[in-house]
Amino acid sequence: MEYFAVTGGHPLEGTAAVHGAKNSALPILAAALLARGESVIHNCPDLTDVDTALEILTCLGCRARREGRTLLVDTSCAHGTHIPDRLMGRMRASVLFLGALLAREGRAEAGWPGGCALGARPIDLHLAAFQALGARVRDHAEHISCRGRTLRGTRLTLPIPSVGATENAMLAACGAEGVTILQNPAREPEIADLQGFLQAMGAHVEGAGTDTIIIRGGRPLRPAVYRVMADRIVTATYLCSVASAGGEGIFTGTDGSHLRPVLEALTAAGCAIRREPGRVIIRARRPLGRVHITTGPYPAFPTDAQPLLAAALAGGVGESTITETIFDRRFRYVQGLNTLGADICLEGNTARITGRPLHGGRVTAPDLRGGAALVVAALGAEGESRIAGLHHIQRGYEGLEDTLQTLGASIRTVQE
Ligand code: EPZ
Repeated sequence: MEYFAVTGGHPLEGTAAVHGAKNSALPILAAALLARGESVIHNCPDLTDVDTALEILTCLGCRARREGRTLLVDTSCAHGTHIPDRLMGRMRASVLFLGALLAREGRAEAGWPGGCALGARPIDLHLAAFQALGARVRDHAEHISCRGRTLRGTRLTLPIPSVGATENAMLAACGAEGVTILQNPAREPEIADLQGFLQAMGAHVEGAGTDTIIIRGGRPLRPAVYRVMADRIVTATYLCSVASAGGEGIFTGTDGSHLRPVLEALTAAGCAIRREPGRVIIRARRPLGRVHITTGPYPAFPTDAQPLLAAALAGGVGESTITETIFDRRFRYVQGLNTLGADICLEGNTARITGRPLHGGRVTAPDLRGGAALVVAALGAEGESRIAGLHHIQRGYEGLEDTLQTLGASIRTVQE
């Protein structure tokens, strides 16, 4: 078994770069299927989820290779329409290949997608979008079958602004004859990044970030060269690490523009945050003060960042609350934080955090962001912690250990 050995209790100091966004690279890799030829995607992080996406593309007949942080995906010979269950089950974003395959081949077969166990994670909105575009969809016994040789543009309103359903609808609509008007879409920045890649392919897609996205489909698309945006949740992770341990951090490759609610919360807790072109700077003041936040669809406080803020607040002073409105099992990390001495109690979908000094302990990551939260807390805890379940963390963080070491953290991977 491998684990992070973290000795916390001393401040961080230094400069680190923020890598490309997992939740932008994954839909963009699916979108590469919409054109025949080689797309070049820069600033793609080296993550196990990205590796899974490359395996799916290869299974479908693409040639995919990595050159540093650049991925080259040649779809010229792609012919497959079936995604193996073992790959579908590894992550949630594998579901996005259904929309791309429907647009490219008119059919898609797959098992049920995997991903962090954050509670019920249905895909009914994805499948409803395909049906609205004219596809025949059967989902039975954990197997999904979509058929749609002639997709037609339509007007579609999402009952909830689902990120994945928005992305899947955009991808499938690119293969539909006519105009699709998608209302109440998700407005996350990663949607705008997907729109940017589709536009670079020659697609007529507009409105990402607003309450209506319009796709004029049925046009032949060409391979594109594109650069993925910086990962805003990784940025939040680094900022909360400094907030938890104290000190000062300079994070480059982003200006923090997509993190306003997180920057406001850290400022309210007593940190000094400065945004400059191409970088965001934090000077932490310990102990952190109290903060009350509620998560929600963008531009509200992002659900993915709430475990990270909770971990930083746990070692502060005063009583904070975090109310979660997106996932019903997002608080699985609380048990691990309490093992490290935190005083967090759950009241329905609200975590009530009473700040107090944390101490080291042995914990296991329950999921991707919960695992990162345990690292954030361990950095601010007195003594040594052991954090197992690193495979969760490796899905969404490239070189987390190296980056934190650059900032002066005592963290290393131990194989037992
Ligand atoms: C994306 O997941 C992200 N994943 C998640 O990040 C993120 O937490 C989430 O958006 C919310 O921002 C990727 O982009 C790969 P949703 P997604 O569809 O698309 C319900 C991380 O840590 N829903 O916006 O699965 C759903 O149950 C991951 O990087 C339906 O009911 O999220 C949830 O309650 C974790 N039916 C809500 O919508 C559907 O068909 C929002 O989910 C789809 C979703």
